Amino acid sequence: MTRVIAIANQKGGTGKTTTAVNLAAGLARGVDNGKRVLLIDADPQANATAVFLGVAFAAGPRQPGADTVYEVIMGNAEAEQVIKTVKLDASERSPEASLDVLPAHLELAAAELELVPAFERERKLRQALEPILDRYHFVVIDCPPSLGLLTVNGLMAASEVIIPVEPGFFPLIGLRLLQRTIEMVKRANPALRISGVIPTMVDRTALTRDTQDQLAESFGELLLPTIPRRVSIGEAHAAGQDIFAYDGRGESARAFAHLLKEVIRRG
Ligand SMILES: Nc1ncnc2c1ncn2[C@@H]1O[C@H](COP(=O)(O)OP(=O)(O)OP(=O)(O)O)[C@@H](O)[C@H]1O
Ligand SMILES: [Mg+2]
Repeated sequence: MTRVIAIANQKGGTGKTTTAVNLAAGLARGVDNGKRVLLIDADPQANATAVFLGVAFAAGPRQPGADTVYEVIMGNAEAEQVIKTVKLDASERSPEASLDVLPAHLELAAAELELVPAFERERKLRQALEPILDRYHFVVIDCPPSLGLLTVNGLMAASEVIIPVEPGFFPLIGLRLLQRTIEMVKRANPALRISGVIPTMVDRTALTRDTQDQLAESFGELLLPTIPRRVSIGEAHAAGQDIFAYDGRGESARAFAHLLKEVIRRG
């Protein structure tokens, strides 16, 4: 069975893309050797696409023929034709690997409106993935910071949701709304479950400690290993690399490796 993991939180900047990029890359790198992994960028900001295919692809003028998840969702291209295979650089601790990416472009923003009158508008991504799903052991979907149709398409296509949460009071308030949305989607996609909550950008402040206490209280066993706040995480994005290539020996890579193991274990 393919595990389709949506990384979702309607709050902006909680570490969704960072989680999606490094989880997908880590899985592809052979923590689970030989398994194919697909990363889907479902966010019009196209940040995950920018990491692996460059900013020009994600946000520059559209190249002729460079279809993206937009065409796939709108039914104008097959996922198979749009997916790009990217090479992940080797590092001291990780062998070279390849990752499939279903990329986005800024124009995906239009889909949020264009989908409104469409028949089965919440199922577009799910339907588009059906023909290729069994090629992959893992599909990781980077959702946008909203509870709109793109996120709902991500949740409808998924078998599980992982929620990254940054320290603070506001992020906790938003979680109720997200849980309600997930419950609603579950009526149409009963297989969907929350498989984990990741405290991200963790530092030594009292706010981080409070947030973690509250998350532990609300989510208990669902709490996944934490990701520390480290400059290298942003630097890796800018370098177009996952954390394992950028700083394979660093604390951030170790944290993601730990997270990865736990995600695999809970499958
Ligand atoms: N653990 C971390 N340590 C330091 N910086 C981080 C960490 N995680 C993410 N960041 C930085 O915080 C910003 C937001 O992270 P990211 O883009 O992953 O969040 P997001 O939830 O995908 O945002 P959006 O809601 O806009 O899609 C980025 O600039 C990223 O580089
Ligand atoms: Mg993002």
